[in-house]
Amino acid sequence: MSGRPAEPTGKPAAELAAEQAAFWNGPGGTGWLAAYERIQRSIAGIGDLALAAAAVRHGEHAIDVGCGTGGTTAVLAHGVGLSGHVLGVDISETLVDAARTHRLDNATFVVGDAARHPFREAAYDLVFSRFGVMFFAEPVAAFRNLHRALKPTGRLVFVAWRSASENPWSTAPVRAAAPFLPPLPRPGPEDPGQFSFGDRARVERILRESGFHHLRIEPIDRPIWMGDSVAEVVASTERFGALARAFAGAAPDAVARAKQAVATLLAPHEGPEGVHLPGACWLVEANAA
Ligand SMILES: C[S@@+](CC[C@H](N)C(=O)[O-])C[C@H]1O[C@@H](n2cnc3c(N)ncnc32)[C@H](O)[C@@H]1O
Repeated sequence: MSGRPAEPTGKPAAELAAEQAAFWNGPGGTGWLAAYERIQRSIAGIGDLALAAAAVRHGEHAIDVGCGTGGTTAVLAHGVGLSGHVLGVDISETLVDAARTHRLDNATFVVGDAARHPFREAAYDLVFSRFGVMFFAEPVAAFRNLHRALKPTGRLVFVAWRSASENPWSTAPVRAAAPFLPPLPRPGPEDPGQFSFGDRARVERILRESGFHHLRIEPIDRPIWMGDSVAEVVASTERFGALARAFAGAAPDAVARAKQAVATLLAPHEGPEGVHLPGACWLVEANAA
């Protein structure tokens, strides 16, 4: 999983937002869709923990933020039943088109930026997200907008990755390949991206400034399945993520050496259940009031 890595240039929020929209409507969206079966296998267990924490009840109204292909929206829709409703919102038209194929009677999918979408005010019981909230150009504006959509009794539940250094499943292959590739952009601490919620204090600050109360932020640590074999993982690096983007700008022999370095790194982590490296997330819960 990866968002477009922004450079720490202090770019205006509007520019960062446009870049995220372009990424998720371009290579990010098509890459996510193409790799979704593998991605789902990697993150389903973490998503299930968030869905269990959300514990939707019949008749509730929920928003699934950054819903992607709508997998979690479908689970929430099942939970709220036909007397409830789920709104899946995502900035990527590609992914919303895929989500609509679920054809759910009690869910609607819209293309929109969570920071600006005109949600009905004080109408929802739950704002939920599986890894869909780390790409906001203006996180406080986005969470304020989501907070406005919640009833006073409403709740927020999401999972987000912790820091890059705590998530070697994503970063170790990039580090192993880096000596052979053109320099990769490094996001600044406040830039949107996969690890932008790694700092617990930042998450707390964003949520408090957005109006949320009673924050509960729990670490989840678990090995992340990366593929059935090292060869398969190495092949997949060409299709999606930071390495795929770096390979696109590198000479074929450099790509070959980079892949060899990734294979060497991963070899000790292959077992009968596939290749795993450690992963680390926050399970975040908060109340609207
Ligand atoms: C890592 S994917 C997660 C997708 C989905 N939640 C899942 O678990 O399968 C992040 C998603 O957030 C969406 N996204 C990024 N920025 C957004 C924004 N400002 N508003 C709504 N969705 C956004 C992306 O288009 C992408 O679908």
